[in-house]
This record gives sequence, structure tokens and C-alpha cells, in this order.
Amino acid sequence: MLCLGIETSCDETAAAVVRDGRVALSDVVSTQIDIHRRWGGVIPELASRNHVIQVMPVIDEALTRAQVTLDQLDVIAVTSGPGLQGALLVGLQVAKSLALATGKPLVGVNHLEGHLLAIRLAADAPEPPFLGLVVSGGHTTLYEVPAFGTYKKLGTTRDDAAGEAYDKVARLLGLPYPGGQPIDELAQKGDPKAIAFPRALKSHEVLDWSFSGLKTSVLHHVQTHGVPTGQGLADLCASFQEAVADALTKKVMLGAKKAGAKQLVLCGGVAANSRLRGLAQERADAAGVRLYLPPKRLCTDNGAMIAVAGAEAFKRGVRADLSLNADPSWRL
Ligand code: KG4
Ligand code: ZN
Repeated sequence: MLCLGIETSCDETAAAVVRDGRVALSDVVSTQIDIHRRWGGVIPELASRNHVIQVMPVIDEALTRAQVTLDQLDVIAVTSGPGLQGALLVGLQVAKSLALATGKPLVGVNHLEGHLLAIRLAADAPEPPFLGLVVSGGHTTLYEVPAFGTYKKLGTTRDDAAGEAYDKVARLLGLPYPGGQPIDELAQKGDPKAIAFPRALKSHEVLDWSFSGLKTSVLHHVQTHGVPTGQGLADLCASFQEAVADALTKKVMLGAKKAGAKQLVLCGGVAANSRLRGLAQERADAAGVRLYLPPKRLCTDNGAMIAVAGAEAFKRGVRADLSLNADPSWRL
């Protein structure tokens, strides 16, 4: 079964062909990061316009690299939410046009389900039940996944997403957008104990996160001491990164304990973070929970994860018609 996945929910224009919901025959991502970087964040109107320019070449490239023609596809999957309305509409319009022209079935995919199922492309992937932490620029939510298509929210952030905190702190420090990778690289040379940044919502009764206080602590630190350079900058990044990874992994392991989960998946852009991956492995090992980490390129937005989720939904009988619309705040 061949599924074409199309993703345009934020600032990557992406398309991929996936076989049997498990094997990526191609995975093409055209990132707009350079366009948005000078503004320090994603400008929705610029995102939509650039999706319009990139979407057809990216789909063509995905089909060419997979050596698959439109006729050979079994299903066309497209992200229909959550995300930026205008950006989502570009992918949707193209997917609907292709479905109409080819007579192929169409499936609308939730972007978060895409992140959760990206691990299916790894050789070693869990079957449900498992817990999945989606940790990205827009979301920080822990889900219980008893079966594909069933997602129960166990906890979420009460304010900023973890990736958003990375991006805002990077901005305070004069580092480029998106801030996750530059902070991660500097943090690896720093001392995580240099600055005692706070952990919010420490109670064992609460499975939620809060990152806005941490961001404000970094702001106060910079207002008091100035923006550090050299080793000081690395130490600040390491201390911030430790606070994020500690908070994320503590609550995830608490969730795993409460749910009696034996398998855990981390996904979304922040799941590429070196310290989060390391600490999650340590704590999962200590708790006897099997941890699955997608390769880093599958953590950030891509079309293959949308094709996987689309293929799974297609198998369950999910179909969309040409009235499929963007749902910018679609909850999983
Ligand atoms: O999943 P994604 O590509 O897009 C969303 O759906 O949001 O995630 C992007 C986010 C950005 O906030 C970026 O700073 C963060 O993932 N990110 C990282 C790392 N790589 C990307 N955060 C921490 N460490 C990283 N290595
Ligand atoms: Zn994403």
C-alpha cells in the first residue's frame, strides 16, 4: 500500500511516499527557516506564500525519488490541523486537487498523530499500547496510546510549549531561530549545575508542565548579569536545558508509572535534544520502561510521518471528501 503524505502546517513544506505505513521510499523537506529567521519566528503570511511556491516541486521530488507515479498511489494523506490556517490550506488544496484528478482516496491527518507515529518508520517500533510525548515548538503533551487512532491526553503544558521556551530563550541570548539546536550545541560544552533554574509544578499529583516561569528566570538572569559570552553562555544554556529535560522526563516517568506503561515514545522537534534523549534513556532504564527514540530527522516536521498516520487511518477505514478543511486548533 503506497501513501503520499503532504505536510504544510508550519514552516516546512514536506512530502513523502511511504509503503505499508512502515517504509519511507522518499522523504523530501523544504524548510523555510532561512526566510523566517530574520524575523525571529514564523510569519504566517510568508509561510503560506512559500508553501505555494514549494509544494508542487516538493511533491514531484517525493514521487520521483520513490520512483512512484500518481497512478500507483493507494491513498493521499494531508495534514489538516493543528497549525497555521493559511499554511494548512495550501497542502489541503493540493491534496484535494490530486485526489479529484486521480480518483484516489483522501485522508486528513492530525499533525500530532503524525509525530506520534513517526517512530513506525524506524526498524524497531512499538506496537500499542505505549505512551507518547509530543514535544515540539507548538505542543508539549503526553498521550496514552492504547490503539492506533485512540489517544488519551494524560498531561500537557499550561503555558509555553518546550520548543517555544527554547526559541524564546534563544532570542533573549541573541541566538538564531529556531533556538533548539543552537542551545543544545552550546549546552553540551556547559555546566548544567552552573545556574539553579526553577522546576515548576513539582507535585506528584500533577502531570502538567509550565515553562513560562523558567523563561522569565532566564530573562531575570540576563537582566541582572547581562547576556553572557563564551563559557558563561554555554553554562547558561546547559542549566536551562537541564531544567527542561529534568521537568519533561520526571513527569513522563510519573505518567508511565500512573498508567502502568511499559513502552514510551518521544517525538516532535524537541525530541531531537541531546540531553532530553540521554536523561529519558537513564530514567526509562531505571523504571524498566522501554524507550523508543525516532532518529532526529524524524523528530522535526516531515511528510513521512503524515503518510504513516494517513496509512494507519486509511486501514481503519477513515476517508475524507472534498469538503475537508483546515482545523488550526484540532485536538487529538
Ligand atoms: O516538530 P517541529 O519541527 O515543529 C512543530 O511542530 O513545532 O519542532 C520545532 C521545535 C522548535 O521549537 C525547535 O527549537 C525545537 O523543535 N528543536 C529543538 C531541537 N531541535 C529542534 N529543541 C531542543 N533541542 C534540539 N536539538
Ligand atoms: Zn510538528
